Amino acid sequence: MFAHKNLVPARELLVQALKEKKAIGAFNFSNMETVQAIVSAANEINSPIILQASESAIKYMGMEYLVAIVSAACEKSSVVLALHLDHGKDFEICKKCIDSGFSSVMIDKSSLSFEENAEKTKEVVDYAKRFGVSVEAELGTLAGVEDEVNVNSKDAFYTAPGAALNFADLTGIDSLAIAIGTSHGPNKGKRGNPKLDIERLKEIKKKVGELPLVLHGASSVYSEEVEKANEYGADIQNAFGITDEDIKESIKNGIAKINVDTDIRIAFLSGIRQSLMENPSSIDIRKYLAFARELAKNITLRKLKTFVK
Ligand code: G3H
Ligand code: 13P
Ligand code: ZN
Repeated sequence: MFAHKNLVPARELLVQALKEKKAIGAFNFSNMETVQAIVSAANEINSPIILQASESAIKYMGMEYLVAIVSAACEKSSVVLALHLDHGKDFEICKKCIDSGFSSVMIDKSSLSFEENAEKTKEVVDYAKRFGVSVEAELGTLAGVEDEVNVNSKDAFYTAPGAALNFADLTGIDSLAIAIGTSHGPNKGKRGNPKLDIERLKEIKKKVGELPLVLHGASSVYSEEVEKANEYGADIQNAFGITDEDIKESIKNGIAKINVDTDIRIAFLSGIRQSLMENPSSIDIRKYLAFARELAKNITLRKLKTFVK
């Protein structure tokens, strides 16, 4: 199991962030270059971060390579950071990550009933607590409902404030991901940026008090970034994300962890495409990866600046 002085449980970062009325950026990575981009942005702005890997990212890199890369990142980092499992689907993957040195895991049983979700989450909490590892869980439904969610169906999909409190009490989680109008990927709205249900967030916050809340699907999908990627041959259509104003409003009202994957993916993709197009005779793969890494770093910096103001 790997450990490092700069590696801390996510709980520590989130509790501090709440006190300071800011949020911690939690950025998905899938290779060495994205880790380097995220950590160098964090170093530059002197802000702690959460590095997070999905199960498919772990499969892609292999646990040994992943841990070695993050271990090197800790060494290079001038800020503290957490290594977090994003959307763990069951106890086994959470245990594997805890046993490998992750300082935080998410168990995502949000598709199950409240009772089953609480029961499965509690199992992970009990194991993680033995190692001081933080646990995030999710209540509510994010994916693909944003445009279908009218006033009547909001209660069916979005997180219910009362249930959030019960869930936190039953499970002993360190943070809770809530559904208030975001979804994963570049298509968060069909006709424009989706509006977040900030009133619901306020109600949830009133109920759960100091429990840090997490916003998944929080990429901004900046139109200029999408246009740039498309200019270099990508085909990303109907792309809308969460506005910086909504992000700031959500931080003001209790969101302490903000999950971002898509914004980095678009920047990285755009960098690779641009570099390949502009250097057709180059066979040096480092050339286009370095350029993509630079763009990924810039977008991470832009995000981090939004989270602290
Ligand atoms: O929330 C999902 C993340 O964007 C991770 O996606 O499973 O393709 O790595 P992934
Ligand atoms: P985005 O797709 O909006 O970047 O959300 C990522 C996320 O929530 C990872 O858990
Ligand atoms: Zn997510």
